[in-house]
Amino acid sequence: MCGIVGYVGPKSTVDVLLGGLKRLEYRGYDSAGVSVIDTEGKLATRKRAGKLAILVEDIDNQPLGEAHIGIGHTRWATHGAPTDGNAHPHLGGDSKKLSLIHNGIIENFAELKSELLEAGVSFASETDTEVAAHLIAREFDKTGDLIESFRKVVRRLHGAFTILVMHQDVPDLVLAARRNAPLVIGLGEGENFLGSDVAAFVEHTKRAIAVGQDEIVILRQNDVAIENFDGESVTRDEFLIDWDASAASKGGWSSFMAKEIADQPQSVGDTMMGRLSSDGTVHLEELAALTQKLPKLDRIIMVACGTAAYAAEVGKYAIESWARVPVSVELSHEFRYRDPILTSSTLVVAVSQSGETMDTLMATRYAKESGAMVLTICNTQGATLAREADAVLYTHAGPEVAVASTKAFTAQIVSMYLLALHLAKARNTRALSDLQEIGKELLKLPAQIAKVLEQGKSVAELAKSFKDAKTVLFLGRHVGFPIAMEGALKLKELAYIHSEGFAAGELKHGPIALIEKGQPVIVVVPSPNDPDSLNAKVISNIQEVKARGAEVIAIAEEGDLEAAKYSAQVFYVPKAHQMLLPVLSVVPLQIFALELSAAKGLDVDQPRNLAKSVTVE
Ligand code: G6P
Repeated sequence: MCGIVGYVGPKSTVDVLLGGLKRLEYRGYDSAGVSVIDTEGKLATRKRAGKLAILVEDIDNQPLGEAHIGIGHTRWATHGAPTDGNAHPHLGGDSKKLSLIHNGIIENFAELKSELLEAGVSFASETDTEVAAHLIAREFDKTGDLIESFRKVVRRLHGAFTILVMHQDVPDLVLAARRNAPLVIGLGEGENFLGSDVAAFVEHTKRAIAVGQDEIVILRQNDVAIENFDGESVTRDEFLIDWDASAASKGGWSSFMAKEIADQPQSVGDTMMGRLSSDGTVHLEELAALTQKLPKLDRIIMVACGTAAYAAEVGKYAIESWARVPVSVELSHEFRYRDPILTSSTLVVAVSQSGETMDTLMATRYAKESGAMVLTICNTQGATLAREADAVLYTHAGPEVAVASTKAFTAQIVSMYLLALHLAKARNTRALSDLQEIGKELLKLPAQIAKVLEQGKSVAELAKSFKDAKTVLFLGRHVGFPIAMEGALKLKELAYIHSEGFAAGELKHGPIALIEKGQPVIVVVPSPNDPDSLNAKVISNIQEVKARGAEVIAIAEEGDLEAAKYSAQVFYVPKAHQMLLPVLSVVPLQIFALELSAAKGLDVDQPRNLAKSVTVE
């Protein structure tokens, strides 16, 4: 994973780099480092294990010189433990005049390292990255041509990489290369930037270019050139970033996650804006490229990981029910290895907040190669998954910084509802008036989420009382089942508490054996107005676990008195269409996990061992 930033321009480079790294810290936070070429022409590097704050303090105590060119890195360790030595940048050559940072994994590093060891090179780290630094430095020592040396070496690397390089002897230039890892250019006035995503430089410029696969960027203060690995020039369109830099700051909240949970009325509203008119009609112009094919789809396969996969699970219920097309949800990393059946009438939907998750990217590439159509639902403009798809439906959740996904999740679910309505219209599977009724219900969601958020304090109180819980079980049924799994995932990620989400109907087939006195069980209760009486069945499940000593907390719809009767505590969500309830019922579960994590004194935004955007397989 890792976050990378590069800068050439008149501003204080250390400040630009550290500011960019702060915004990219969600990508990895086990060590950080920067290199600059100072105004006296000397390369200076500082890197420290631990969170970015440790590096910042180090630089505050012992400032680096004034500089107008530099690169910075925040790391999520793959090869080599998170130590000062393994932190990036890595220096190359005997003279150590080359500095390099890397996001990804160089798969053939062992072979390259043996070659270098045989040539007498000594290594300062255990990383795969350092081989690239030495290889480029050695080429440069031979030819004195940094760009050609860079091209030559990146062509030899296998695997995934975004690499940025600077050399003290060529002090006006930052070079970058990209293969299977993200890289975006920021275009300023008399300054230019590089970043893993636009967050790295959005406070300085809104003009950006997404770099393509196997491309090299030659970045100078007043000039940016892109070429392929063979040195042929490439033209890429600019785009404007529609995120406001302030949207990516905490704005007075205790954590990014707290802010992002509270953002949900807005982010859900923004995701529907321009796509759903007040009479409930859906317009998805983004899907124009697929229009001819939608009526004839044979199936939909959704590929996603983590939270995004649970959003996809909710989408499956809506699409199958409204648009009558079979949907399966697959974890991206399992999908392509089981030889799935794909035809030109199969629509593969990649769901991803970052649009850079390597497992999902590989799954969609596989799908495209097999002839399927690909639609990406993603939150990040210009992301690789967006660029490689036949069509993109952006979730307009705004920047999500906390590692645990919240507002992107609800925005993904809402996008899935929009897609389901659009498909139903295209396939003529439901009366337009029915679809419009659902559309109108969707429009109520922002205000309804705001109502759920009002219960935040009581959820927080409850969460504190679970501080010492060893395990928490979640039950749900129908669209509540993926929400139970998402509730459990949130608790694992944030509070490091063992938790599992089960389908309530499955309880009697095994999980009920886990119930003993005092076992917390959180139940997502279906609407009492659902036509299939699932509510009554889940209320029976509540009685079953309560009879065996469980302490039940229910998330139920307003007016569901039965749920209250058998539960130690109930959190109510407003009455909504039964298919739309997940967007409301997940909110108390998000707050519960956040508050439990905070009560345990943990880092809510940056849980241990995780990273937000997983760009390695
Ligand atoms: C990581 C994050 C999860 C996230 C998953 C998918 O594992 O820790 O929070 O749900 O990646 O990320 P994506 O960007 O593809 O939605």
